[in-house]
Amino acid sequence: MRDPRSILITGASSGIGAALAWAYAAPRTRLALCGRDAARLATVVNLCRERGAEVMEACLDITEAAAVAAWIVNVDHASPLELVIANAGVQGGLWRDGAGETLDELHRVMEVNFGGVSNTVHPVLPAMRRRGRGQVALISSLAALRGIPFSSGYCASKAAVRIYGEALRSWLAPEGIGVSVVLPGFVETRLSQTVSGPKPLMLLPERAANIIRRGLARGRRQIAFPYPLYLGMQLMRALPPALVDGSLCLRISCNHPESRFSSAVPTPSHAPRDRPQLRMAHWTASPGLLILRQERYRRRQSLNTRGSLSGSKAIWIATRQTPYTPSSMTFQARSLGDNG
Ligand SMILES: NC(=O)c1ccc[n+]([C@@H]2O[C@H](COP(=O)([O-])OP(=O)(O)OC[C@H]3O[C@@H](n4cnc5c(N)ncnc54)[C@H](OP(=O)(O)O)[C@@H]3O)[C@@H](O)[C@H]2O)c1
Repeated sequence: MRDPRSILITGASSGIGAALAWAYAAPRTRLALCGRDAARLATVVNLCRERGAEVMEACLDITEAAAVAAWIVNVDHASPLELVIANAGVQGGLWRDGAGETLDELHRVMEVNFGGVSNTVHPVLPAMRRRGRGQVALISSLAALRGIPFSSGYCASKAAVRIYGEALRSWLAPEGIGVSVVLPGFVETRLSQTVSGPKPLMLLPERAANIIRRGLARGRRQIAFPYPLYLGMQLMRALPPALVDGSLCLRISCNHPESRFSSAVPTPSHAPRDRPQLRMAHWTASPGLLILRQERYRRRQSLNTRGSLSGSKAIWIATRQTPYTPSSMTFQARSLGDNG
């Protein structure tokens, strides 16, 4: 849809969702934004209002289906929704002593990433179908194209979103409803800070939001970026699994104190003092080709400016404490009390 005037975005309190809200904010545009963190959401809402948009916000957990449905129906009643962007999502649990994700973490990732998307899309479809128009965008990930060993739950949840979107698209297209599946690569956000290791071709959220917005305006069915990384993932899908599995055989030994979803998150003083050695696949993208090569990383003393890998304590600091302050979208958010 070229110029939607009534837009709902979930997970708008941070990262890609916040950048999308900012990108769409304009006079005569009504935005419905949600997130869980009231302070961060309020900052985004204020920025959008300053740009002239009318904003309805809600602090809610996307996994609470009844509350999400009630809010969406209410928003649609006040201002019939033209575009719904199901964006809210979380990264999977980090590895502890090579143990992988716990079952609870796996369920939680599926519940937020796939459950949250379906909780968002489902309530709006009856109204859009009645009107015979509307557009829905589901934020999946390039990780939906091929399972990556260090985030199995995340990849599975994003693959579910992709397939769900593809199925909806074929079903709803004849009724005048466009469904776009968005597959971003690395974007510099709070979420990507929790991923250790190299993040090739990482984009700023503003750039990602512009690519998504442009793709949606053109009615693209799939919006995948950056293109070299997308080609690399497609190449991995095309190659024989035995070959790819071998290259992806990552061994991560990291004494991470707790994963993101644990209820017993330790204080910084509890962070481990040992110096885990991590062996990670180093992804290097060149035009049209993703080269995987294994490389050793030793713990460094401090985080570099992009918050990349420097040991388990640094990862802990990055995931629990480092405020997210990327470039222009959050230029006014520095005063924000970050509780992430
Ligand atoms: N960053 C990347 O490299 C990357 C790559 C591919 C795909 N993606 C996808 O892009 C989407 C946005 O991620 P991001 O990178 O912008 O991360 P982010 O900065 O951490 O933003 C995630 C957003 O989702 C919201 N959220 C998370 N759990 C929620 C819940 N249970 N209920 C309601 N809202 C919830 C967060 O709200 P609160 O903070 O207020 O809880 C936040 O607004 C995700 O679906 C992610 O999987 C990201």
